[in-house]
Amino acid sequence: MEQWTIGKLLTWMNGYLTDKGVDAPRLSAELLLSHVLNCKRIELYTDFDRPVEAARLEQLRALVKRCAEHEPVAYLVGRCEFYSLEIRVNRSCLIPRPETELLVERAIDWLRRRPQPASVLDLCTGSGCIAVAVAKNVPECCVIATDLSDQTLSIADENVKAHGLGEHVRLLCGDLFDPLAGLDEKSFDLIVANPPYVTSAEMETLDRNVKDYEPTPALHGGVDGLDVYRRIADQVGPFLKANGALMLEIGYTQGPAVRALLEATALFAEVTVEKDHASHDRIVTANRQTA
Ligand SMILES: C[S@@+](CC[C@H](N)C(=O)[O-])C[C@H]1O[C@@H](n2cnc3c(N)ncnc32)[C@H](O)[C@@H]1O
Repeated sequence: MEQWTIGKLLTWMNGYLTDKGVDAPRLSAELLLSHVLNCKRIELYTDFDRPVEAARLEQLRALVKRCAEHEPVAYLVGRCEFYSLEIRVNRSCLIPRPETELLVERAIDWLRRRPQPASVLDLCTGSGCIAVAVAKNVPECCVIATDLSDQTLSIADENVKAHGLGEHVRLLCGDLFDPLAGLDEKSFDLIVANPPYVTSAEMETLDRNVKDYEPTPALHGGVDGLDVYRRIADQVGPFLKANGALMLEIGYTQGPAVRALLEATALFAEVTVEKDHASHDRIVTANRQTA
């Protein structure tokens, strides 16, 4: 009987997933195998000739099958890396994207220039990745994170606890600012959000791994993708301190429209649009006072 070693498995999975049109087939193979073997990816290469026992092969085969059907690897292994942190995910939440790390970086920079403890509101928190990354890097700040979905908030709660941030991040369920109604302190130094921003037309053209697996309420932002930005612009005033800032992730075509929405509120002294590492408009920052 053929002996399956780590090396042989990686070669086979890479070929199979490539044939099935899966993105990043080698990386996917490594992530699945290291998950099944409960080891680090680097250990696959230091243990290249290690035989893999039948029970693990069985487990791996089932995961490779799902991966070949374009189910995202992050859901298959139940986690992903975001801002150098392990974030747990399941199909109730969006898989955190690398683009969102820029929003986190800007939020952390902004907070580090402010007296602490600063207060932060993370709207549309999903897995809680932004709230967790900010609180982990600015430990003095207090974060409130909200989301419409209580299933999503359960995974956010796991992430908050896994990173030991139970004292720093509070999760509330409801529509945008609504869950703040019962709080004594409702105005924040910094409000961040990565809302759903995919347009109705774009929803039809999303890759299978996104369209068939990630939750629609985390993606669809209405016909022009701007529904949630309009509502944030309308409602944000009372929730932002006089010297506070609002930072939003946007779709790469939405810079001018989101800037116009925020300028029309007359709440902000300056609104800037920043590009990501791929030179796409990605972050809108609106400061109530000029820096
Ligand atoms: C694009 S995902 C962002 C998740 C996470 N912040 C991230 O960056 O990976 C948007 C999230 O907004 C939530 N959401 C959508 N509409 C909402 C609303 N009206 N109020 C609160 N949350 C909402 C969805 O449930 C989803 O978790």
